[in-house]
Amino acid sequence: MSVITLLEERYSTRAYLSKPIRQELLEAIFKQAQQAPSNCNVQPWQTCVVSGEKKEQLKNDLVATIMQGATPNPDFNWLPKYEGIHRERQFGSANALYSAIGVAREDKKARQMAMIRNWQFFDAPHVAFFTMDKYLDIMGAVDLGIYAQSLSLILAEHGISSCMQGALGQFPDPVKKALNLPEQRGILFGMSFGYADESAAVNATRTERESVANAVEFFS
Ligand SMILES: Cc1cc2nc3c(=O)[nH]c(=O)nc-3n(C[C@H](O)[C@H](O)[C@H](O)COP(=O)(O)O)c2cc1C
Repeated sequence: MSVITLLEERYSTRAYLSKPIRQELLEAIFKQAQQAPSNCNVQPWQTCVVSGEKKEQLKNDLVATIMQGATPNPDFNWLPKYEGIHRERQFGSANALYSAIGVAREDKKARQMAMIRNWQFFDAPHVAFFTMDKYLDIMGAVDLGIYAQSLSLILAEHGISSCMQGALGQFPDPVKKALNLPEQRGILFGMSFGYADESAAVNATRTERESVANAVEFFS
């Protein structure tokens, strides 16, 4: 499939079939993603792919942490308070999600339950955590973003859906413990992935994009 078609057809998938991806295919996909470019070719990503029993245990640990009322403590500066047009677009994407699953904006409890699905990895059979050495900061974050989008397009090429999740960097402690990550390593964000459950209402969520006229200026 062409990159354009993959981009046009992709959407953030928030419900999955339990069917896992074959290990050989997983390894082939992550090998392909290694082709992603990075600043000075430093390749800062250190990706942790978690599946099976380990993923189930981590899900339980994360949900328990959140249920206990833990405050987010991301390793990187990722607690954005969006303003103006960015805030409007943030609301737009949230509304698209809630209307797909029939949740009213004022129904705080239902919205919280929808949010918790993040740390249940939307029942995906696999989750990737994108980590890097903390000192890399914004330099590394750019590279990890490019890497993650390359990975998601390669997954899509293989018929596999995904959802990037800033939420997966919000409570790093249980993840670092489960994956035995060294102190100097930070979790920037994560991505649940697997085969989409096309019948799930949440997967009807679609978002809009700004017009080119408002996003791009051509100079000559
Ligand atoms: C870096 C990044 C972090 C994201 N974090 C989350 C998240 O934590 N939870 C979630 O449900 N979606 C998350 N998303 C998905 C966005 O909400 C989604 O990409 C956006 O609304 C556009 O919709 P689309 O991907 O369906 O086209 C994230 C996307 C990106 C690129």
